[in-house]
This record gives sequence, C-alpha cells and structure tokens, in this order.
Amino acid sequence: MNQEKVIVLDFGGQYNQLVARRVRECSVYCEIYSYRIDIEQIKAMNPKGIILTGGPNSCYQEDSPTYGKELFELGIPVLGLCYGAQLMMHILGGNVKCAPVREYGKTEVFVNPKTQLFEDITPKTVCWMSHNDYIESVAPGFEITAHTADCPVAAAENEKNKLYAIQFHPEVLHTEEGTKMIFNFVRKICGCSGSWRMDSFVEDSIRSIRDKVGDGKVLCALSGGVDSSVAAVLLSKAVGNQLTCVFVDHGLLRKNEGDEVEAVFGVNGAYELNFIRVNAQERFYQKLKGITEPEEKRKMIGEEFIRVFEEEAKKIGAVDFLVQGTIYPDVVESGLGGESAVIKSHHNVGGLPDCVDFKEIVEPLRNLFKDEVRKAGLELGIPEHLVFRQPFPGPGLGIRIIGEVTAEKVRIVQDADAIYREEIVNVGLDKSIGQYFAALTNMRSVGVMGDERTYDYAVALRAVNTVDFMTAEAAEVPFAVLQKVMGRIINEVNGVNRVVYDLTSKPPGTIEFE
Ligand code: XMP
Repeated sequence: MNQEKVIVLDFGGQYNQLVARRVRECSVYCEIYSYRIDIEQIKAMNPKGIILTGGPNSCYQEDSPTYGKELFELGIPVLGLCYGAQLMMHILGGNVKCAPVREYGKTEVFVNPKTQLFEDITPKTVCWMSHNDYIESVAPGFEITAHTADCPVAAAENEKNKLYAIQFHPEVLHTEEGTKMIFNFVRKICGCSGSWRMDSFVEDSIRSIRDKVGDGKVLCALSGGVDSSVAAVLLSKAVGNQLTCVFVDHGLLRKNEGDEVEAVFGVNGAYELNFIRVNAQERFYQKLKGITEPEEKRKMIGEEFIRVFEEEAKKIGAVDFLVQGTIYPDVVESGLGGESAVIKSHHNVGGLPDCVDFKEIVEPLRNLFKDEVRKAGLELGIPEHLVFRQPFPGPGLGIRIIGEVTAEKVRIVQDADAIYREEIVNVGLDKSIGQYFAALTNMRSVGVMGDERTYDYAVALRAVNTVDFMTAEAAEVPFAVLQKVMGRIINEVNGVNRVVYDLTSKPPGTIEFE
C-alpha cells in the first residue's frame, strides 16, 4: 500500500494495538512492527513518524529490548511512550532509574501547552500512568514539557530533532486528552494529511483486488459473521460473478440465522455473486450423536465443516483464489506484526486452505481492526444487523449445549436465546454488553407447571462485559429484565422449567460453556 503511514515499534507493551488504533482514529494509516525490525526496512517504508510503545522491562538492564541510535537520526519524528520514552532518553544520554514512588493509575499531569505536542491541552490534565522506572534527567538537547507531583519528567522533547518522550500512556482512554496528543503528533508534528478513511480503503481495495484477481475464479467460505461478510462483499464489488461463496449451515446457528444470511447473499440479495448454501444440518446431528466431551465435539464440528466444504469445492473445481477473513489483530497476535505473540486458540476455518485447489490467498481485511471492518461494512452497504453482530463461535450452538447435541436441544437453545436477545435489545442493552447468549445445561430438574409435575432442562443465561474477550466480568443485567426473560422462556419454550443466570467471570470461567 503506497500511502503515508506511521509505524509503531512494539517493545512488548500491553497497549501496542491501542496505539495503532488511536493513530488510525486520526485518519492516519499505521502498522505495528517488532522492535527487532531492521533499520533498512524502516527506511524503505519511509514512514512519516515512528512511535515506540511501552514495555515491561527496564531499559538500563542488559538484554532489555533496545534499538540503535540511528533510529533517532533519520530525520523522522519519533514519539516514545513510557518504556519507549525511557529508552529514548537512555540511548541519547539521559538517565533512567527505578522510581522512589511508583506511579500507577489516573494522575494529574502539568503540561506546557505552548509546545506543539500539547497544543490545546489543558495545562493540568488527567493521564494514565503505569511505571516503576522514571526519567531522572533528560538527554542533552531535550527540554522538560510536563511533570507530575512525583515525576519530574512526565514529558520531554527535542523540538529541533523532532524527538518526543511521554512517560504516561496517551493511547489509553483514561488519559482524557490522549487522542488529542496523538493527533498533535501525527497530524501536526509528522505532517500527515489524514487521508486514511474507510471510503478510500474500500475504493483502493476494490481496485487492488481487481488488479490481483484479473479474470480469475474466487472462492469464499461465508459464515455470516462480520469478517467473512465484509470480505465477501468487497470481492463481490470487485469481481462480481467470478466470486462463489459457500455457506455451510451446520444446524448449529442461531434461530433463523441461516435464512438471514441467505436473504442478504442469496439470489434475492443485493450482491452479484454465486451463493451456495449447503444444508448440512442432519449430517452434523448424525455425526454428533453420542458425543459429550467438549473437545471431541469441537474437533468433530471443525472436521465435518472442512469435509462439507471440500465436497462443494470439488464440485466447483480448481479456483485461482481463496478468500480469508483475516484481520489485523490476527496478524499481530500470530506474531507476524508486533512483539506480543498470543497465539489464537480458536480457528474457525483452520485447515480450509488444504482442502481447496487454489493458487493464492486473498485477505482483503488483513490491515484492519475490527471496528474498521465494521466501518468498511457500513460503507459497503451491508445491513447493520450483520455488521454489528456479536461474536459467535465457529462450532456454534454445539458448544452452548452441554452434553450430547440433538436436534431437539438445538431447538430449545435457539428459542431461548432468541427470546433473551430480543429482550436485551428491547431495553437497549445490546450495544453496551460485550456478548450475551443462552446456553442449555445438561441438568434436568423437577418443577411444576399448572398442576403437572415436570422434569425438564435448565437454561443458563450469560452476559459479559469485556474489552478483549481474554478476560470478562458478568454484566449486571437488571433483575426485572432477567425475570421477564425467565417468564417468557418457561412459557414459550417447551422442555425448559428452570432459568439460571451465570455470574462467573473469566478467569476462572470462559465466556462460552465448552
Ligand atoms: P472463551 O469461551 O474462550 O471465548 O472465553 C472467548 C471468545 O471467543 C469466542 N469463541 C470462539 N470463537 N471459534 C471462534 O471463532 C471458537 O471455537 C470459539 N470458542 C469461543 C467466544 O464466543 C468469545 O467471544
């Protein structure tokens, strides 16, 4: 991509992706690289600015992540954040030490608003601090531009050489004017024009997909989730009927979901593409008979999915390109982008490439964050209910039914879940809760309905607040809402006589039940 960009050098900080997101919020394209990247590679990219992230180490210790001095001599503006700030000082001749008072949390910082970095910032502003080390003295040529009660150097700069160091974390939302500071750096100091927008992304992508694909045949596994839907629509806009989308309905989708996907992408939908829906429900239920162990279920569903897809792909024959809905966090987390290699444990279509006869992979969303994928989706005119879909696991309801999966249990959990989701939307909580759904426990218990004794299943309701889905807290759904959902499920869903609310956080629980 030949456009102006800022690069983030990742020193292992937990907020590396946040830094890149904030830069992009300023309409500037940004990529994350490990601090191990070679200086020649940086020069070849010709970035408009470089940001060094925080990190867990002490820069004065041997073996801590570092960089050569030449990074600061490229004539490119550099902004160091926390560890990045300390490292800049350390390398350029300042002094960094273990702080007598560790600063953590929201802190009042006194900044010099006459500087370009803090232009339009309130002189006393709340920032997010998290550091053990501190800059005791700045490097030659630097001036102190901010301090706190405990920290003499909360920010410093060498304006002539365009080098800036900030001890706190402007990328974290607790830093009230942080985005403005990042805007000042990338737009004013680095001089980026701010041309990174989703409409231009969509236009550029369509053009580059056309160049790449030519008159080739393209195959896409469509799940109905946000990423594969946006990828499919981009491809459809670029190459129309050269694209075939295969949608495998494994019978473990939410209520009416298969029909909803078909309504959007099928023959009566809005897009030019070949849509194949494979109704494999019975086949999956047969395979799942008698399987109760969670991992075995997951494995079976994944394998069967690939088998079904493979059969369809064989009917289509050789294709030139296979579409994958990879997004930027997948790239970074698989260790290709930044420094923190968190390997994803859930792969929905893992193994798919092996079963298709294709020449090349197309990953049109590879550079986007999730919220940008959503923006691109809206830009492309994809219906909001698809664009703002909550995460849904690849194995679907199979892992929300504890114990053996049967068609009857799928019906129960689909109906209960639909009621729960409807009521959450009715009270306007759908945008604020990270993920919410109903699961079917394997517990049956005695109840009484009318004058009759019942012996039916218990449905568990789950709702969590989460930022990254790695940790989560149970959401405080108002009791009146839970009561209403309980009443409706018991009255409307045959086979259920008890409803419980799951209070478990993650850890020790997981978000899903299996
Ligand atoms: P857990 O249950 O591990 O879930 O706390 C974290 C997030 O991942 C989703 N999830 C999956 N997503 N394939 C997926 O694509 C899977 O096999 C899978 N299992 C869990 C889950 O819905 C939650 O958002």
